[in-house]
Amino acid sequence: MLKPVITLLCILMGTISVNMVGQNNLPIYLDESKPIEQRVEDALSRMTLEEKVAMCHAQSKFSSAGVPRLGIPENWATDGPHGIRPEVLWDEWDQAGWTNDSCIAFPALTCLAATWDKDLSALYGKSIGEEARYRNKNILLGPGVNIYRTPLNGRNFEYMGEDPFLASKMVVPYIQGVQANGVAACVKHYALNNQEIDRHTVNVNVDDRTLYEIYLPAFKAAVQEGKAWAIMGAYNRYKGEWACHNQYLLNDILRGEWGFDGVVVSDWGGVNNTKQAIYNGLDMEFGSWTDGLSEGASNAYDNYYLANPFLKLLYSGEVKVEEVDKKVRNILRLAFRTTMNTKRPWGSFGTPEHAAAGRKIAEGGIVLLKNNNNVLPIDLNKTKKILVVGENAIKPMTVGGGSSSLKAKYEIAPLDGIMKRMGTQAEITYARGYVGDPTSEYNGVKLKRDLHDSRSAAELIGEATKLAKDADVVIFIGGLNKSDGQDSEGNDRKALNLSYGQDNVIAELAKANKNLIVVNISGNAIAMPWINDVPAIVQSWYNGTESGTALASILAGDANPSGKLPFTFPVKLDDNGAHKLGDYPGLNKEATYHESIFVGYRWIDKEKIKPLFPFGHGLSYTTFEYGKASADNKEMTADGKISFYVSVKNTGNREGAEVVQLYISDLKSSLPRPVKELKGFEKVNLKPGEEKTVTFTIDKTALSFFDDKKHDWVAESGDFEALIGVSATDIKSKIGFKLK
Ligand code: BGC
Repeated sequence: MLKPVITLLCILMGTISVNMVGQNNLPIYLDESKPIEQRVEDALSRMTLEEKVAMCHAQSKFSSAGVPRLGIPENWATDGPHGIRPEVLWDEWDQAGWTNDSCIAFPALTCLAATWDKDLSALYGKSIGEEARYRNKNILLGPGVNIYRTPLNGRNFEYMGEDPFLASKMVVPYIQGVQANGVAACVKHYALNNQEIDRHTVNVNVDDRTLYEIYLPAFKAAVQEGKAWAIMGAYNRYKGEWACHNQYLLNDILRGEWGFDGVVVSDWGGVNNTKQAIYNGLDMEFGSWTDGLSEGASNAYDNYYLANPFLKLLYSGEVKVEEVDKKVRNILRLAFRTTMNTKRPWGSFGTPEHAAAGRKIAEGGIVLLKNNNNVLPIDLNKTKKILVVGENAIKPMTVGGGSSSLKAKYEIAPLDGIMKRMGTQAEITYARGYVGDPTSEYNGVKLKRDLHDSRSAAELIGEATKLAKDADVVIFIGGLNKSDGQDSEGNDRKALNLSYGQDNVIAELAKANKNLIVVNISGNAIAMPWINDVPAIVQSWYNGTESGTALASILAGDANPSGKLPFTFPVKLDDNGAHKLGDYPGLNKEATYHESIFVGYRWIDKEKIKPLFPFGHGLSYTTFEYGKASADNKEMTADGKISFYVSVKNTGNREGAEVVQLYISDLKSSLPRPVKELKGFEKVNLKPGEEKTVTFTIDKTALSFFDDKKHDWVAESGDFEALIGVSATDIKSKIGFKLK
């Protein structure tokens, strides 16, 4: 009874017109039983030009306007991608000082990629999506899927490694998990943002083949398989145009070829030109440093490229209304998918479940790189004295690194995790070893632990080595951190080697104690000049709230390591194509990717280089035996499929998980191709003695390359090989087959 009365009143008051009322007496745009496109058109038809333009640009650091008159809420974005950023002030980056916004910090995306586990990606997406939803955010600024082109890139830790297939498979469940909460995943940074140096100005020159084969697949999967509702343009330029308003990337590829129907959000300050922002595919502008904003005027946001300058062009008729309508349609669609979906769940925040999810992901992603003499896991029945050395054992890593910096509800540092797990069974001593960067503050979030230490390098090494001689086991915990010039936004690293004299500390510790375990915490590969002197090496990541707990459970053997490297560890920088060819960071703000498709292991294979640790590598505390691989056919047709089978058996005495990897090799082709490319992977969990058969089924997409001339994917008939491996350099069996 009430509904018809309200509707009638609305009609009489003129707020809705009669022909826009649906059968159940709701205005069509509010009627969730109606198709979304019909609701979009209905809402659009009710809006003024000013209301439309207001939707296309920010109204604060992280929000944009809704249509209050129509009950369409504002959009609220949040970083991303490892946890929900603390609330910031309306006009500033500084945190607002809320006391109810401390989140669960999840492991960095490099760790997620290192799990090679799609289920863990789904768990990640679900958990962070719930946190975003609870905080009433409808756009999560993540995940990031820029390809790891150089180990110096300061933001690699926010991405998913060097391989387009791995990143494509891992990004999809994350997006689906986030969006199941009625929160849009905003995949970033589209595209070619592969270095931080000169990120606002550099123009990337890359051939189409490389673009399509290496740099775009993860974005394409995010759009077509993950059905991402938002995408963020990158800061850099491509074909001379900024990526945030780029005809080729946004209009031709994203919308034209992939059929993207979501919102294109600019990176913060990534818009540089009104006309291009109008015509080249952008929908929402954020973070621009217009004069208004840098002067701090209250109407700063009116000076955005897509604010008053846009409105003026619309008023004068120089730009057609259809141009703003196109953008607003995308933004309204986002509203109907998120804020205006009355069935979306409510979310949850800072829960033990989310912390446990983060811990599980961390345990699944930590990589055991080397383990001679079974130094690991630490046998607590025999070990009485453990010495822990290194700044990263005590340094919280959730603060810093740029926009992904968090205010975590709590963070268990490695030393705390080790004390908690092993402290009752062994005597644990700590020595600093070196001083890296004792400052840890970001946008007003400060750490409680004081990391300052004024002793000299010689004194610190002296103390550590003296204690090391007396210990049963020494655990060195170092690596990179989130400070400028390390793993941090806005800058790249200067060198592959560790800084702060860590190489020296490790070398001295190796002399003092033969049971040395080195734990490298980073989001990037590092050089290891001491590798031959250290029996056990663990690659850990920025693992968030439960990082110390997860690391301790790997070191103690409660969890069996099963992570695999999502990128190559080269011995030296020149073992990387971009560096070898002198194409990094570019000349006169032009970065030309001469190494083309030969990124990561593709370069290592082509140049026959022995890496320090190959892509896909990771050991376990148990052993696996592979059977001989077989196929269901000797040939496949262009529209057919072929399956490969391989059995894996756990031959050790602990439960463990193995990642079986399928690489495809094209034995003869008209264009140069990588020696092999990852085209399948499966993580299998096996009890001691258990055996499982893994099946990979591929079609011609796994055999195709992108032909620039035809502008299409091509699979050439001829001979191929399927390689079953445990890493890019450890191939267990090969099967030849033909494409007819
Ligand atoms: C970063 C984005 C981030 C945005 C908002 C930019 O500087 O490049 O990744 O989402 O800031 O904080």
